[in-house]
Amino acid sequence: MQDDFLKYQAQTTPHPLAMEVSHAKGSYIYDKKGKAYLDFVAGVSACSLGHSHPRVVEAAKDQLDKYLHVMVYGEYILDPALELTKLIAKHLPEPLETTYLVNSGTEAIEGSLKLARRYTGRTEIIAAKNSYHGNTMGSLSLMDYEERKKPFYPLIPDINHISFNCEYCINTITENTAAVILETIQGGAGFIEPHNDYLSKVQKRCNDVGAIFILDEIQPGIGRTGKLFGFENYNCQPDIVVTGKGLGGGLPIGAFTASKAMMDSLKDNPKLGHITTFGGNPVIAAAALATLKEITETDLMAEALEKEELIRTHLKHQHIKEIRGKGLMLAAITSDAEITNKVVLKAQDQGLILFWLLFEPKAIRITPPLTISNEEIIKGCQIITSILDSF
Ligand SMILES: Cc1ncc(COP(=O)(O)O)c(C=O)c1O
Repeated sequence: MQDDFLKYQAQTTPHPLAMEVSHAKGSYIYDKKGKAYLDFVAGVSACSLGHSHPRVVEAAKDQLDKYLHVMVYGEYILDPALELTKLIAKHLPEPLETTYLVNSGTEAIEGSLKLARRYTGRTEIIAAKNSYHGNTMGSLSLMDYEERKKPFYPLIPDINHISFNCEYCINTITENTAAVILETIQGGAGFIEPHNDYLSKVQKRCNDVGAIFILDEIQPGIGRTGKLFGFENYNCQPDIVVTGKGLGGGLPIGAFTASKAMMDSLKDNPKLGHITTFGGNPVIAAAALATLKEITETDLMAEALEKEELIRTHLKHQHIKEIRGKGLMLAAITSDAEITNKVVLKAQDQGLILFWLLFEPKAIRITPPLTISNEEIIKGCQIITSILDSF
């Protein structure tokens, strides 16, 4: 099985974890030998309601019985997609009311960049250093890591970078800038929160110079930080909000939401300003709608903050220097990268799934499902601290 996996399925690392998955339910993934793994990663923040949440599965199954793909995006009225976009609008402040549904986070980022350029008629995009917005050509262009970008040159031009949380850097946003795109909480960089009203200062500067302020909520969004959208914690509001991952409850989705007036610029001159065949797919939209209802109709968001406290209380250890992030988007920063590496690998042996962050080698990713129980949290934290005791 492993040989086939390594031969037939494209690899992105020399040594993939290669767990052979049998099934997954709630906070656990089971391998083919019947071993249970407590999931502290949730498919990299995607399985917001844990694995195979009954409400999500039922919604998808109901839709499977009605119709699957019927037409390219935006031509026919599909109830699940329409209901989903209405519900997203209901939970966003005005004028964020019109959503374009796509198939992944990076595609939603691409759409948001196109929309900003189209709407402003400008070209410059400003992104943050150490940011991650996805891996297609446009999203990759936003990254400032030369060694990761260079093999794929030439990427899209007119991208400039500022340091996240740097206030004087905000002055580089000018009348030439089409958009500033930031993660609300920087993910790959090590779960760095914005400080000192940084995001609202960027928003103000964007307003002053007529640039579009885009917030990437693909990871912090959909309840993970205790609010439906991470930016609600930071006294600001973007012109375009980009979501993905947790919105699908385990199925692939991306979305970007803007004002109706801005979004309308994709439908004319040229028309079909952004095209997708499967975006807004009815089965995916039904699952996302169920996910969004479950998160907004229950106490899961408030509980995310209580669970954060529980994790902070139970993850005290001399080798943990800091716990960054908010709600259930947390990164435990150990004293060195080798320790982090060993903890992630040993934890899997001991039935706990952990993972790394892209650019911060000392970080242990802790992004469990919002539905994880307090007992499961304590159990997972005990596994981590007992491994750390051995160093
Ligand atoms: C902040 C952020 N933006 C964009 C993406 C890209 O999303 P996707 O992998 O669905 O394309 C990710 C994925 O990790 C992300 O964390």
